[in-house]
Amino acid sequence: LWLALGIRRRQPGEPAVENGFIPYLGCALQFGANPLQFLRSRQKKYGHIFTCKIAGRYIHFLCDPFSYHSVIRQGRHLDWKKFHFSTSVKAFGHDSFDPRHGYTTENLHQTFMKTLQGEALTSLIETMMGHLQDVMLKSDTLGSNKDQWQVDGIFAFCYKVMFESGYLTLFGKELGDDKCRAHQEAQKSLVLNTLENFKEFDKIFPALVAGLPIHVFKSAYSARENLAKTMYAENLSKRHHMSDLISMRMILNDSLSTFNDVSKARTHVALLWASQANTLPATFWSLFYMIRCPDAIKAAYTEVQTVLRDLGLTPDPDGPILNLTRNQLDNMPVLDSIIKEAMRLSSASMNVRVAKEDFLLHLDNQEAYHIRKDDVIALYPPMLHFDPKIYEDPYEYKFNRFLDEKGEEKTTFYRNGQRLRYFYMPFGSGVTKCPGRFFAVCEIKQFLTLMLSYFDMELLDPAIKVPPLDQSRAGLGILQPTYDVDFRYKLKPKL
Ligand code: HEM
Repeated sequence: LWLALGIRRRQPGEPAVENGFIPYLGCALQFGANPLQFLRSRQKKYGHIFTCKIAGRYIHFLCDPFSYHSVIRQGRHLDWKKFHFSTSVKAFGHDSFDPRHGYTTENLHQTFMKTLQGEALTSLIETMMGHLQDVMLKSDTLGSNKDQWQVDGIFAFCYKVMFESGYLTLFGKELGDDKCRAHQEAQKSLVLNTLENFKEFDKIFPALVAGLPIHVFKSAYSARENLAKTMYAENLSKRHHMSDLISMRMILNDSLSTFNDVSKARTHVALLWASQANTLPATFWSLFYMIRCPDAIKAAYTEVQTVLRDLGLTPDPDGPILNLTRNQLDNMPVLDSIIKEAMRLSSASMNVRVAKEDFLLHLDNQEAYHIRKDDVIALYPPMLHFDPKIYEDPYEYKFNRFLDEKGEEKTTFYRNGQRLRYFYMPFGSGVTKCPGRFFAVCEIKQFLTLMLSYFDMELLDPAIKVPPLDQSRAGLGILQPTYDVDFRYKLKPKL
């Protein structure tokens, strides 16, 4: 009967199992309503590891941070490709990137390392800084009355500015006369349409990852296909100053894969999504918490002023653009801590591996558990990020939480007196750690630096409560706020 109902019984040596009450879904609804609360209550009941049936799969949740290493380390029993590649196929509709499926021999991981880190990162940062200042100061994205107070939602503002700048940084600009009004307008409307399509598609992303077919969502499907249309090779070839990431992927799609044109275009849509879906809400939370906390904005302003003064740079909206190298951005520990703390409070990415075979998982406390082939092992970093034994008053925003006594980056965190190797994981872990993380942090720092340099800004309601996190995306990255928060901004008066 157990077997007929698809219900698992715990075998000796296995973690405790919760099958949930609903066939197939199992515990999915309880987990989805409040993942952290759900996992904490099970941890209390079962200990460091337990198994839940969620949407037809058995997932082992490992909750002891000192045992994370046993999953993150690339052991021979665990596979990361299976889950990651199939998720991307489900969401974006391209052919599989798993070399075992025979559509491509590209080593995607290597492509990302080469085109998002090292030398390539230097050029991404430089291009982004130019586009950010173009969008904030020169183009009409923010209208023409920026020297008067302008009211906008922080979320809406961050989306406009970061999406356009990030999109142009990755995909370049269409060839044409930048001074010609018609060309400018066509470019603007392409970016705005792309943003609208991105938002429409992004809304149903959690449902796609959960396995629902995209055809159920008519408008999201056409949004995704509209995005893909703009990314056919014939359209991308009309663009210049494209990032290495996209230009190299175009070459590799052509030389190493049997993907057809639609599939190729959809791989670029996947990258557009990866580059924006987390960065946009992360930028919102960073700016929101910084403006809301007087000590944070003061410390950030001082840091930015000091860096610019040391370089002999004076912000002037009509003057030459400001430029900061990667090294200079890396040496801004206050902004770093402001961003880290904002992401600690808003990130909810699940780290997942699949068991290649039956094996014994060893935990830090000498316990070992039997894991069955094809079972999923998951780490849920909010368990760390909101652990009061690691972060005092974990629900409070403390802008200097990641600064040490010397005002430098704090890298040592403890739990019960024992130093933690893993305490902050918004970018995932091990081999699947986000390859764009250095760029992501730099671009948010650039954005905050420019906001502080060129604009005065304040919340309309300084005592406004922190908007709750939209939990419908739990497991997928940085969560969005359930509603926007208004602020006002205007260009600083010229000295
Ligand atoms: C993957 C977080 C920004 C490119 C990921 C993953 C996470 C993540 C959690 C998945 C890790 C896993 O599955 O275990 C973030 C956050 C960002 C951000 C929090 C911003 C705050 C970016 C940016 C880019 C980027 C700006 C590129 C320009 C990628 C790519 C992958 C990825 C290509 C897939 C890697 C693979 O499958 O091998 N990111 N990311 N990310 N991210 Fe990011």
